[in-house]
Amino acid sequence: EIISVTGHRRWDSRARPTVEVVVRTAAGTGRALAPAGASTGSGEAVDLRDGGDAFGGHDVTRAVAAVNGDIAAALTGMDVTGQAAVDQRLEELDGTPGFSRIGGNAAVATSMAVAHAAAAARGVPLWRHLDPAATRLPLPEIQVFGGGAHAHGRLDIQDLLVVPLAAGSFAQALDWAAEIHRSAGRWLDERGRLAGTADEGGWWPAFDSNAEALEALVAAIEGAGLTPGDQVGIAIDVAATQFGSGGTYRLAREGREYDRDGWGEVLLGWLDRFPIVSVEDPFAEDDPDGMALITKAAGDRIQIVGDDFLVTDAERVRAAAARRTANTVLIKPNQAGTLTRARAALDAAAESGLGAIVSARSGETEDVTIVHLAVGWGSGGFKVGSSTRGERTAKWNEMLRVEEELGTAARYAGRAGLAP
Ligand code: PGA
Ligand code: ZN
Repeated sequence: EIISVTGHRRWDSRARPTVEVVVRTAAGTGRALAPAGASTGSGEAVDLRDGGDAFGGHDVTRAVAAVNGDIAAALTGMDVTGQAAVDQRLEELDGTPGFSRIGGNAAVATSMAVAHAAAAARGVPLWRHLDPAATRLPLPEIQVFGGGAHAHGRLDIQDLLVVPLAAGSFAQALDWAAEIHRSAGRWLDERGRLAGTADEGGWWPAFDSNAEALEALVAAIEGAGLTPGDQVGIAIDVAATQFGSGGTYRLAREGREYDRDGWGEVLLGWLDRFPIVSVEDPFAEDDPDGMALITKAAGDRIQIVGDDFLVTDAERVRAAAARRTANTVLIKPNQAGTLTRARAALDAAAESGLGAIVSARSGETEDVTIVHLAVGWGSGGFKVGSSTRGERTAKWNEMLRVEEELGTAARYAGRAGLAP
């Protein structure tokens, strides 16, 4: 039984306030922090912010107050192991489709804290609480270069990531990513192209074109003594909603504009030239025809991932499966607002033959809930940002702890973590 629910104002990795929720029971306490996106889809649960001048309008005193007021009153006395009932209560309490009243940030932190409290009450890690039989470690996508909304548009593509397909374990996957990160930094430094680091800790490079960034990533993989393609694949998050709308795509870096078909040709050209195994949001959220075009052309050999396009929504996932506009869904709990809703999107993907990648946001904290969801829900993929920065290493290190705890039972998904 839930004894108390309290909300607290904490900080995230972009120096913005965020919501922490603590759920207490007689048998154990759970704690969770809400993350925040920068390149958000319009269909996401509302990240409730105060507005005004302080912290760029990003303060969360209203969301924290909602936790300490309505949410605490509604959840106190409920069964902490009844996640679905708790999440249902949050939806009823809010009364809007997107949690615009209590805040998706208040809702998701509460929902995650309840899950942690339930696991603590049973005395097991959250991943084991979710699935006692889980043994699979997901295939990680690890950022090397950041761009888009996370690097002031210095690159049109938002994320260039590596996928350690042939690593023997999650631990080795991280070893490889760290060597590639170092190698990429060296490559940029030697050419005077190092401009800083992006929001998720990847290098922020001064490239002249998106293709040059892909070339540099291949060089960085080789520079780390690894084979691009066979051992390490490339994933990109195009985050095209940021530079495309109405079927038109404007590349600021290259000063070029494309229509849907033209942009599709650019993307397919990259797929021919580079060992790309996964492409996220290649077309804008308002362009299902674009998503269908690339899924038809390449969806039988690489992952086509919907992030802004699917916003962790079960209905949208089913529609995407029916119309073949993606073959994988990115799962971000705060897009959905509750764990039950996020889980429904993942289940919808499994039922429709789509893959799933559990993902962090660009604004993060030391919270490690998504590690436990990825293992306990059995997602094929896992995406957290770069090899650097504490809010990222918090997740990587937690996954290493899970791998160690599983011991000889641990199975690294490797290439099998990719859809299709
Ligand atoms: P976001 O970026 O958290 O800013 O949305 C992450 C992503 O697009 O995958
Ligand atoms: Zn994305």
